[in-house]
Amino acid sequence: MIIAIDGPAASGKGTLAKAVAAHCGLAHLDSGLLYRAVAKSLIDRGCPLEDEDAATASAASLDLSKLEAATLRGAPMGEAASRIAAYPSVRAALVDLQRSFACQPGGAVIDGRDIGTVICPNAEVKLFVTASAEERARRRWRELVLGGAPLDYDTVLADIRRRDERDSTRSASPLRQAPDAILIDTTNLDAQAALSAALAVIAEKKRTRREPADIAPRGPAKTELPHISEKP
Ligand code: DC
Repeated sequence: MIIAIDGPAASGKGTLAKAVAAHCGLAHLDSGLLYRAVAKSLIDRGCPLEDEDAATASAASLDLSKLEAATLRGAPMGEAASRIAAYPSVRAALVDLQRSFACQPGGAVIDGRDIGTVICPNAEVKLFVTASAEERARRRWRELVLGGAPLDYDTVLADIRRRDERDSTRSASPLRQAPDAILIDTTNLDAQAALSAALAVIAEKKRTRREPADIAPRGPAKTELPHISEKP
């Protein structure tokens, strides 16, 4: 089963995706790491983020097995990732990688911005996870305080709003809820409640999905002949 989870920054989609993957025994890909890795490779080489060709070349040579999540976290890298993610050629260079991951035996959970709309439009389960910008900023702010790098709340809120605006108004694969995605608003949900909501959607999908045996043709179809009564 392929499970696509999209949503804006700090909506809880990453935490949810990890928990769903662990619960269902599926592999998990945080697609934001791909864009972060491309941004980091430019920064490390001293290339400006405006260099679309360099960003595209870096995306085309990305190796999933070499992604080091710990070096890619943090708001500045998220902001840089959001900027290079607006280039259509960068997005195009990352499509096959994500689709191959999704198509592994058994399926996978992928979270991002365009998974249900562009990368896996045929995913069996699509979730769109969101929360108010104020609540998402509060979560980010709390993380920063606990991590010993406090910023004032208003700055964090402005960052979140700027990233939402860029991610959802770009022309290439903008952040959008797929028409067939189920909305989970985590503004008033903790991680456990969000997981329960997601698992309920997945269980319902499994219950109602047609197994291959139900879909496969079962021998030649019987043609109903119109009944013609013989004339006496
Ligand atoms: O999910 P994240 O915060 O790690 O993502 C960082 C940025 O990468 C995000 O602001 C936009 C971009 N991104 C994207 O455009 N498409 C994705 N599928 C995932 C991330």
